[in-house]
Amino acid sequence: MSPESPPTLSVCQPTPRPSKPLLPNIEITPVGPDTLPAYRRLITTLLPIRYPDKFYKDSVANTTSSSLALCAVWRHSPENRRQGGTENVPEPTVVGGIQCRLEPLPIPPTESTPVRSMQTVYIQTLAVLSPYRSLGIATALLDTIITTAITYYSNTTDNVTEIYAHVWEANEEALGWYVKKGFTVENAVLEGYYRKLRPTGARVVRRRLGVGDWLRARDLKADEDMEINEAVGSTSISNEIDKKANG
Ligand SMILES: CC(C)(COP(=O)(O)OP(=O)(O)OC[C@H]1O[C@@H](n2cnc3c(N)ncnc32)[C@H](O)[C@@H]1OP(=O)(O)O)[C@@H](O)C(=O)NCCC(=O)NCCS
Repeated sequence: MSPESPPTLSVCQPTPRPSKPLLPNIEITPVGPDTLPAYRRLITTLLPIRYPDKFYKDSVANTTSSSLALCAVWRHSPENRRQGGTENVPEPTVVGGIQCRLEPLPIPPTESTPVRSMQTVYIQTLAVLSPYRSLGIATALLDTIITTAITYYSNTTDNVTEIYAHVWEANEEALGWYVKKGFTVENAVLEGYYRKLRPTGARVVRRRLGVGDWLRARDLKADEDMEINEAVGSTSISNEIDKKANG
């Protein structure tokens, strides 16, 4: 790139392919007090950055906070019983995790448009244990984060419009993965971003959230609402039965 060139985007793949379904024994779930120790071990083992206690406190914060953290839990099937045991099934294992925060992107108000702001999702961590890779787990974590952000953090005045991350410049595997997932890798290398790694630079990967993301979020929300309505319906029916039974 010549010194006059603007910082253009180098690699671009606009539309990621639809995700494959996850194996039925993998569950994507918010990080909770029960999964936090395993989630913390996973992040500490797989990523070269040491995060402070505050980061892990945010992992279990509820959805009123701007931190979003999910883990992938692998539930062992009865066929995977421990040798020598009778009916013992190993405890579920945390095999992957993602943690993000929402960042505001204020848009200056104009006369014709009301005050609006946009938000971006910043991926702080994303990792999957190596024996469990290429099963679609990271894709499911990413898709669920996007859906959650759109569903719970977009409204008439705020919209979640993009998602981005910093990736170590030498992490070809992760850069390739993000491109496959529709992210664009920005040309500029942020030198000195990783003080303890050599080389020290980071590349920014970024994806605008599109119609497909919004439609998927809408469909999932509709399914969720239907499940809640069915549950409420069956509760009120069982309440009626209880009332009748108790005279
Ligand atoms: C990057 C990482 C999270 C991917 O996790 P994963 O669960 O294996 O990813 P998925 O199974 O969802 O996606 C695999 C897909 O990406 C593709 N893929 C994986 N690595 C790729 C690469 N380097 N280039 C292109 N495609 C790649 C696979 O072919 C597969 O494609 P498919 O869905 O068409 O079969 C995982 O490798 C990891 O934890 N790496 C170490 C930690 C890390 O570097 N994190 C990123 C830091 S921000």
